[in-house]
Amino acid sequence: MALADISMILARHDGRPGALLPILHDVQHEFGHVAREWVPVIADALNLSRAEVHGVISFYHDFRNVPATKPLIKLCRAEACQARGVEALLPQFENDDRIEVETVYCLGLCASGPAAMVGERVFARLDKRSAARLIEDVA
Ligand code: FES
Repeated sequence: MALADISMILARHDGRPGALLPILHDVQHEFGHVAREWVPVIADALNLSRAEVHGVISFYHDFRNVPATKPLIKLCRAEACQARGVEALLPQFENDDRIEVETVYCLGLCASGPAAMVGERVFARLDKRSAARLIEDVA
């Protein structure tokens, strides 16, 4: 990844107020992560301190500073999904070395939990069988 690619993203948002989050989302979406060495470039472009940019990146779980090495499954462990049995499914996800599991808190599918997300796709009403299918599909 060249800095020129980051520059193109920065140029797309040039002059827009509140551009930091949209820029970080674009970088994350395009490259799968926001590398530490890009923080000063983004900070300079937005006239922010590196600490401000780093603070936003570290606050939101969606932003990674290294690319994922395995397929990532975001598993909701918020209250509604807990009530619908997500904790019983957790070992099935955590014990599979082919995938990376990230805990998230609410995917907006509370009535249809347990819920998970892979990329832009969401999965609802997970049980042991459908969780196994999901893992097989992404692994
Ligand atoms: S609590 Fe899991 S989707 Fe809302």
